[in-house]
Amino acid sequence: MKRVLLFQSYQEKLKIPYATFLVFQSCAVGVGGGDGVGLAKYFMYDGQCENGESVFTLNEDMSAEGKYTECCLNLNMNSSIEERRLTFEEMAPNWDKISENVGYKGHLLCVEAFDRAVSSTDVYPNSTKNIKILDVGAGTGGIGEMLKSRGYTNVDALDISQEMLNLAASKNLYKKLICAPLTDTHMKEIETAEYDVVLCGGVIAYGQTPPGAIEQCARFVKPGGLFIFTVRCETFDPEGHNYGATCQKLEESRKWKLIQKEKREQHSNPNEERFRYSYLITYKILQ
Ligand SMILES: C[S@@+](CC[C@H](N)C(=O)[O-])C[C@H]1O[C@@H](n2cnc3c(N)ncnc32)[C@H](O)[C@@H]1O
Repeated sequence: MKRVLLFQSYQEKLKIPYATFLVFQSCAVGVGGGDGVGLAKYFMYDGQCENGESVFTLNEDMSAEGKYTECCLNLNMNSSIEERRLTFEEMAPNWDKISENVGYKGHLLCVEAFDRAVSSTDVYPNSTKNIKILDVGAGTGGIGEMLKSRGYTNVDALDISQEMLNLAASKNLYKKLICAPLTDTHMKEIETAEYDVVLCGGVIAYGQTPPGAIEQCARFVKPGGLFIFTVRCETFDPEGHNYGATCQKLEESRKWKLIQKEKREQHSNPNEERFRYSYLITYKILQ
């Protein structure tokens, strides 16, 4: 292991004086040490050794700001709503970059399932461009942009983070912006059966939302309408956090009927492997 200096700009940004790299044939292949252990493990380096052996060039695109934050990765069942909110407020200015760097595809998956469902008259007869849609955990508007380009004009956004919504607002994608946390309790901001379709990409996940949030999303949808969402496999599966049990309960009580469930890659370059696969699920609300 070799202690090296960081470029001045990175020292200022990261507030650490040095980091330690494992050097292999002039390439930095690992990192630790300094005061930056926690931060540094998410950097990528281009491996170029400059000025002899003392300075490495960092690859700016994969700096800490371009990955999920430590706070986000550490969210859990006991995290308070305020902790969740602050986590996403902090992430908002960098969300588009993070999304690109980690190869996030939740919005693409949801809209793909939406396109499929509304083009099938068996699944969703009488679809129009004016159906009332809610984008839950809308972020900076990934889903909203795709819906707008398809001509949908009646789309609202909900998010726990006002910063995320501010960025979405600047793109003029949504009719109404609702800043509120999705939890397992009744949300006064949204009427029962208010929406024709609810989309929710990358939001139902252990730490971000409790299992009962699924039931709340089902409440937002009219009978005959659709709830389309992604949920991390480790969150859904019985050997993980078993959110699937909530879905099963709603099926058994005839609240909804499963239209499609498939395992898909949601992050092509995830911070952690548990983020890679999600289920893409479409339910039709029955009552
Ligand atoms: C991974 S981003 C996905 C953004 C967008 N859905 C997309 O697919 O591009 C997750 C978003 O969910 C929001 N979020 C996380 N937990 C939430 C909660 N409990 N209630 C509402 N929004 C939440 C975050 O603020 C963030 O904007």
